[in-house]
Amino acid sequence: MTGHGMFGIPLRSDMWVVGADEVALSHRVALRSGTSERDLSGGRPIIGIADTSSDLNPCNLPLADLIPAIEEGIRSAGGVPARFPVMSLGEDLMKPTALLYRNLAAIEVEEMVRSNPIDGLVLLANCDKTTPALLMGAASADVPSITVFGGARPASKFQGRELATGTDLWRMLDSYRAGQLSEAEWSEFEQCLSCGNGSCNAMGTASTMAILTETLGMCLPGSSTIPAGHPDAYVNAHASGERIVSMVREGLRPRDIMTEEAFSNARIILQAIAGSTNAVIHLPAIAGRLGIRWPLSEWTRSGEGVPVLADVQPSGRKRIQQFHASGGVPVLLNQLKDLLELGTVGAGGVLSETLASAPAKPLSDAIRTRENPLLEGPAIAVVFGSLAPDGAVIKRSAASSQLLIHTGPAVVFRDYADMRARLDDPTIDIQENAVLVLAGCGPVNVPGMPEWGMMPIPQRLLDRGVTDMVRISDGRMSGTSFGTVVLHVAPEAGVGGPLGLVRDGDLVELNVPEGELNLLVGEEELHRRRSRWRQDVALHERGWPVLFQRHVLQAPQGCDLDFLVAPSNDFPERIDPVIGRS
Ligand code: FES
Repeated sequence: MTGHGMFGIPLRSDMWVVGADEVALSHRVALRSGTSERDLSGGRPIIGIADTSSDLNPCNLPLADLIPAIEEGIRSAGGVPARFPVMSLGEDLMKPTALLYRNLAAIEVEEMVRSNPIDGLVLLANCDKTTPALLMGAASADVPSITVFGGARPASKFQGRELATGTDLWRMLDSYRAGQLSEAEWSEFEQCLSCGNGSCNAMGTASTMAILTETLGMCLPGSSTIPAGHPDAYVNAHASGERIVSMVREGLRPRDIMTEEAFSNARIILQAIAGSTNAVIHLPAIAGRLGIRWPLSEWTRSGEGVPVLADVQPSGRKRIQQFHASGGVPVLLNQLKDLLELGTVGAGGVLSETLASAPAKPLSDAIRTRENPLLEGPAIAVVFGSLAPDGAVIKRSAASSQLLIHTGPAVVFRDYADMRARLDDPTIDIQENAVLVLAGCGPVNVPGMPEWGMMPIPQRLLDRGVTDMVRISDGRMSGTSFGTVVLHVAPEAGVGGPLGLVRDGDLVELNVPEGELNLLVGEEELHRRRSRWRQDVALHERGWPVLFQRHVLQAPQGCDLDFLVAPSNDFPERIDPVIGRS
């Protein structure tokens, strides 16, 4: 049934279009309408362009402009471009959080491939959840895939100073709440923030996941941090269109690229960029689609001896555009190549060869050298203990060093609404040594595990000059956030985790160097509280949230749905379609 055509290899799409019968004929006619191609008799790879641009997601809008260059690249290499829409996951507007829909978008990609004549994929990603969603879908579909990013938005300027998205918003909010910013200045600040499309320009989740995608090998070298609107973005779009056609010819699939060694490299680079803690959820979710797993403790181990070299906010001083101008990912990887597996193969070829042609030294100080790191690692650490039996995560590089070992009395909020309502309640006793505990933000509970973990500092403490406190939750935080914030506590309170057993005044012990997070309450008392615990999660009764709440895994397993994870890394591909009359 397949015709090998100009590529000399069987193509998946040939099952649809090759043949003289009425079924193949109708498939060719349908394809011609969308692609305007005359020659659809088989043998030309059909490349799906998974388009996540949307007017509801300003982070992804630059992607729309890149599509013509991608299509041109695909055609010039002999392929047939076919754009299809994928849910756009914008963290700004989607409530309660875009993570609730990451797995749905991944399903969309997989099922679009399963059901359509698609031989390869160009994944258009930018806002932070779009990247893991597309990679998860591509991993499950396992057809050759390459990612094109839309790039970070230009820097806003406020009072002569360039702003990093997210990070400076949180800082300004604290200043505003502390009365250091007038109403007029706060309003002027708002106007400054809306000045261009593209992803957050700090080391947020979007930049982190883009850099990790390049480290994994799922985009062209040097492409993951090209700023939005930069001429190089169009050059890369064209080159990626050409490259995906040759990847189909080579049979280079996600499973060949995203290997255990590639994920090991990605864990190291996450530490070297002091990237978003969200990657600690997304990378296992992507790997899980390929049957690859590692224990949560591996995150701390991966960071030992890895210096932070990306001098980008919130851990450093610069923006992602400056990181790119300093040489981007190839230069960063060159700085650390003695720690990396150099035999991995990506869209750009073998990693050792890619790095051989990259500059050996950073072109400016947004990427530090090994001799002059921003910080000693690990930037991200994992803690375990009686408060987090299955672990929790903290971004050490964005925390206050004097709080990394801290014991203090808990002030407990049972959920986000409770925290918003009572944080500044003058009747609550909150001293600066308190540990703020926010339960009810886990994957099942809300659902979707929103980025609520960086609780604001209570007003009365802000007024006294307090800028950081230990905060603990089963939620996440934005990659642009900072502070001594312990996240992803597992199991979450909503499924009976000990976070839901903490009471006001209980002593909580955090010891990041020792990897400990403990609730200093006697076992007898804890047993008494546990026996009284009742699940009070608002369970949905219809729609996608039902499926999500019933099947979502906890944070250490990546919050994927249990039936989407591959049981092993030799799990057979089962996406072959059944072609019949329709
Ligand atoms: Fe979209 Fe940050 S909110 S990239």
